[in-house]
Amino acid sequence: MNTPVQPAAHPKATAIFVCSLGALAGLMFGLDIGVISGAQQFIQKDFGISDSVLEHIVSWMMLGAAAGAVGAGWMSAALGRKKSLLFGSLLFAVASVWCGMAPDVANLLIARLVLGVSIGVLSFTAPMYLAEIAPENVRGAMVSLYQLMITIGIVLAYLSNAAFSYTGNWRWMLGIIAIPGILFFFGVFVLPDSPRWLMMRGRKEEATRVLLKLRGNPEQVKKEEADIAEQLKIPQRGWHMFLENKNFRRSVGLGVVLQIVQQLTGMNVVMYYAPRIFQGMGYNTESQLWFTVIVGLTNVLATFIAIGLVDRWGRKPILYTGFVVMALGLGIVGTMMHLGIHGHGEQIFTVAMLLMFIVGFAMSAGPLIWILCSEVQPIKGRDFGIACSTFTNWIANFVVGATFLTLLNSIGDAATFWLYGSLNVVFLLITIWLVPETKGVTLEQIEHKLMEGKKLRDIGR
Ligand code: BGC
Repeated sequence: MNTPVQPAAHPKATAIFVCSLGALAGLMFGLDIGVISGAQQFIQKDFGISDSVLEHIVSWMMLGAAAGAVGAGWMSAALGRKKSLLFGSLLFAVASVWCGMAPDVANLLIARLVLGVSIGVLSFTAPMYLAEIAPENVRGAMVSLYQLMITIGIVLAYLSNAAFSYTGNWRWMLGIIAIPGILFFFGVFVLPDSPRWLMMRGRKEEATRVLLKLRGNPEQVKKEEADIAEQLKIPQRGWHMFLENKNFRRSVGLGVVLQIVQQLTGMNVVMYYAPRIFQGMGYNTESQLWFTVIVGLTNVLATFIAIGLVDRWGRKPILYTGFVVMALGLGIVGTMMHLGIHGHGEQIFTVAMLLMFIVGFAMSAGPLIWILCSEVQPIKGRDFGIACSTFTNWIANFVVGATFLTLLNSIGDAATFWLYGSLNVVFLLITIWLVPETKGVTLEQIEHKLMEGKKLRDIGR
């Protein structure tokens, strides 16, 4: 019955391949975020809709994603990580085509909602899959790789938007991202299922086979299996623990606050509405979309700063720097809008300040909030805790997307940017007050201190 299992010839290369392929889910996330920015003005013209209907078209995707993230918790446990990724990518492709072909506003709204569900599923499952499959020493880097893929997805969508802007064909903009979705779907077929999930289901032999492929060394595989078995003895009892344990409620609360903070920095205002912002600075449609590409590229490049610094500087100093840079960037953009942007020089300066804001986000809150959210939850409640914070990320994202144009139209563009700028100052204070420094601390130590009742900011170093 027991077929002998052989270690793979190149385990390291296999692990890198599997992780990189899994991280491509981040690309779908990014495409999804980026695509709407370039399409919206053409959609608005075509359907003759108001700003408030447009806000719904932008933001229903996030509502769908919040629902998808909750459903994915169940799906990834019952059907497995791989099947969830397959489902998510197929739905992504179908919904993208539907968006592109939508005959009317109602169809477009529902298609965006379904697209959101697919991204919710992928954004919950993929980081979890990566953490379960990656060798321990590169686990943090994997979360950053995932964030990098998000930013690359955004910039690819911006590029395609800019290319289609000459014909104004929003249907192609929205539909074409089905192609990477389908490619990802076929890619997921060759991925192994997560060894941790296989063991959870009592499929130990398959788990061994996967681990041997990824790690090569049978001794290491045995040890890892023993570790997983040990962890699985601890039942996931998130909801009960949430009701019973005050300290767990604190870590769940921290994850929720961190994700609200990430979204209220205002990053997605720029991600979704950059062309509109450039329009406000006096640029024509094509320039708007090319400047938006530059925003996307800056986002990709500055993510490398975080990757390089996160394990050297630590989490808190990077967040402090990021919030200061973001507050300054948005504050100055608001001031320029208040004073009126007249010559070419002033336009370029304002664009530079907006890019400075992007750098501030990408080097800090972008990747770091996701990292912190996965670090602060105790093992028994990890799935529940991460589901709560991921859900919050999408709800807060929804609120930001659904209110930006209304804010612009009611309080004006300068005040809108000042509002987000000052929130970043508040977040600096929240970080000082609430966020622990988790650099170089094991997850067990963090959990121990949390459960001892230490202040949240002291559960790290
Ligand atoms: C955020 C997204 C955002 C993206 C931008 C992610 O960390 O969760 O909401 O659009 O970064 O790069």
